[in-house]
Amino acid sequence: MKRRQFLSLMAAVSSAPLFFRCAPNQSNPLRRIVSTDGLLELSLKAQSGKPAIAGKAFQLLTYNGQVPAPILEANAGDTVRLALTNQLDAPTNLHYHGLHISPQIDDVFREVAPGESYTYEFQIPQNHPAITGWYHPHYHLNVASQVFGGLAGPLIIRGDLDDVPELRQAAEALLMLQDFDPQNTLREPHALGKRWGREGSLLTASGQQNPVIKLPQNGLLRLRLINASASRIYQLQLPEHPWFLIATDRGAIAEPTELDTLQLSPGERADLLIPGQRDPKDYEILSLPYDRGIANIVESLGDEVEQISGVVPPTQAVMATLRYQPSDRVSPLPMPQKLIPVAPLPAPQTTREFVLNHGIDSTAGSTGFIINGQSFVMDRVNTQVRLNQVEDWRIINQASMDHPFHLHTNRFQVIERNGQPETLLTWKDTVGLKGYETVTIRVRFEDFIGRTVYHCHILDHEDQGMMGILDIQPA
Ligand code: C2O
Ligand code: CU
Ligand code: CU
Repeated sequence: MKRRQFLSLMAAVSSAPLFFRCAPNQSNPLRRIVSTDGLLELSLKAQSGKPAIAGKAFQLLTYNGQVPAPILEANAGDTVRLALTNQLDAPTNLHYHGLHISPQIDDVFREVAPGESYTYEFQIPQNHPAITGWYHPHYHLNVASQVFGGLAGPLIIRGDLDDVPELRQAAEALLMLQDFDPQNTLREPHALGKRWGREGSLLTASGQQNPVIKLPQNGLLRLRLINASASRIYQLQLPEHPWFLIATDRGAIAEPTELDTLQLSPGERADLLIPGQRDPKDYEILSLPYDRGIANIVESLGDEVEQISGVVPPTQAVMATLRYQPSDRVSPLPMPQKLIPVAPLPAPQTTREFVLNHGIDSTAGSTGFIINGQSFVMDRVNTQVRLNQVEDWRIINQASMDHPFHLHTNRFQVIERNGQPETLLTWKDTVGLKGYETVTIRVRFEDFIGRTVYHCHILDHEDQGMMGILDIQPA
């Protein structure tokens, strides 16, 4: 795509959209595995398969033959017993993205070799916030290929937010956003695709192209969104219809907050509340073209871009269609006024800097993606902290491309972006950084000691070294 076309596509968003449109599909909800009597028990087989994605069958990696994998749903306090069997031809493991559990269990250094099984068993803390999370492989060097291959599933924890009376009445839907390349999903991408982070041109929501989601008239819809793409950053809008943010990665916010555009970087989640009080017709959730700092380069490639696997021009798509459903409610369900208070973390005891870039590793001498001048090395601790301490981390993106920063195990609050205080207080585990941006996050290391990681959630960048080991020492 030429720059001119890209810009006019960007401009088209606010006027009449000119992009390719496919008719909405009747949605076909994901399989859901819910805990019973405090136990969520299941086995997951990682295997290759050919599930139908958006009506096309192509070779992918699946859990139990499904893409996305089943929704796992448990309550705070429940036990999870999950047997993972690796039927792939490469090592894998599981990461529980969003869960506050011990890094000794949520262990990204574990290897489940081809042909082997491993059973994860843990208790979700009694006081765990209600979240929309997800699970995906995290075996270093294989993360991008396995997640882009389709290995990912939603993980819902019920708790505090679910007890808000108005929300108990809400209908629920979940969309897991993934992009695929039907021809090349399992092929190693071109070097440029790896460098920038592989993307596919087929945009899907819960394995479908433009599924229909029912919105009860005069009712409320709680819509959970998960960005499970390996590299794609979504800019989402719901034109002509209000939607309200009620929760971010690690749980509820204080009160419903009306949104215009919702940006979701890989790894990020959002829960939205949508009141069914408009004209009862269809409304589209749009994904707008977004430049994550590579559009100029993509443009300079001209038509060659078609031949380069893993690199696609910025795309606009309809991710899903909200369709009003008649109901016998004569008066609208009320919106909740208050959700769950978000207490600001106290002032930090320590401040650190994390500089994200692409360049020469100061110790290895090789070129790669680096944090504070270093690429990831197995067994090398990059940062040591103490349990219960509060720290401010200034994350400085010195690169021209976006690098969404993700921390495992503990949640954080975003304090500042480019010197401006953040206005909405939320609990996060992943934060988007555009090229040359600086973001300050505040974190308290709670409950668990041991080695965990932080990394860029553009998974090719992570595999190419943009990850560090955090060692949480006893207080
Ligand atoms: Cu969603 Cu370290 O990952
Ligand atoms: Cu994670
Ligand atoms: Cu990155």
